[in-house]
Amino acid sequence: MSYPRTFHELPPGVKRIRYYPRIGSTNTRAKQLAERGAPDGTVVLADAQSAGRGRQGRPWHSPPGKGLYFSVLLRPPRLEPAALAALPLVAAVSAAGQLRAVTGTPVAVKWPNDLLVDCRKIGGILAEARASGRDLRYAVLGIGLNINHRPGDFPAHLRERATSLHLIHGREFDRTPLLLALLGEITRHCRLFFETGFAPFRPRWEEMSVTLGSAVALHRPGGMLRGQAVGIDDTGALLVEDCRGERHRIIWGEID
Ligand code: BTN
Repeated sequence: MSYPRTFHELPPGVKRIRYYPRIGSTNTRAKQLAERGAPDGTVVLADAQSAGRGRQGRPWHSPPGKGLYFSVLLRPPRLEPAALAALPLVAAVSAAGQLRAVTGTPVAVKWPNDLLVDCRKIGGILAEARASGRDLRYAVLGIGLNINHRPGDFPAHLRERATSLHLIHGREFDRTPLLLALLGEITRHCRLFFETGFAPFRPRWEEMSVTLGSAVALHRPGGMLRGQAVGIDDTGALLVEDCRGERHRIIWGEID
């Protein structure tokens, strides 16, 4: 199912949806629009991306007609760049919550930015920002979700590790109502996050998490850390206990 030509009813936090049948990356486009003064709540949506980007410089394979690929431009009134670390976590709980509510899929979150079903990745989040001085000028929240993918729509090396709504439920999903539900929840939660920080989202994140209580191998700027994920704090940092019982507070990193 394709997207409508125009989106008539937008969720409250969304100013405008700019739709592209094919684009390099919605995040790159949203950042260009931000530099030209586009307002808070501008959304860039694509049916296909030719240079979709994931975390750590990885490509995000984005075939046409299959996934949801969109970016939301956010202009928080005041936000310190350090607080940006928790933004993907907020987006992840919002997206997982809406996917659970609308499709009945048991989506879980993996620190910091993955959405999983039965240990397979169904989506990911890429947050990028431009700061000036102590404050953020804007943030771009890019979200990629596997909706109507069949096994052959994933690159061979991801086939065992990825899933989609179609693979789980055995049927096609209309992406438009899902997109609007996700945008409503994500923009509402981001506004709340900019006012209150991560603390109010923490219990929901803990409830949805597959990371807490599990053994983790964490790639971080200082090298590899192995241990047990024992908690998350009010800033969204992961608390990891190593084999000597020493606790580490991790702000940035990647879990295998
Ligand atoms: C990850 O899990 O590594 C993050 C993936 C983020 C992919 C989305 S698709 C829409 C937006 N545009 C991009 O180029 N990337 C994000």
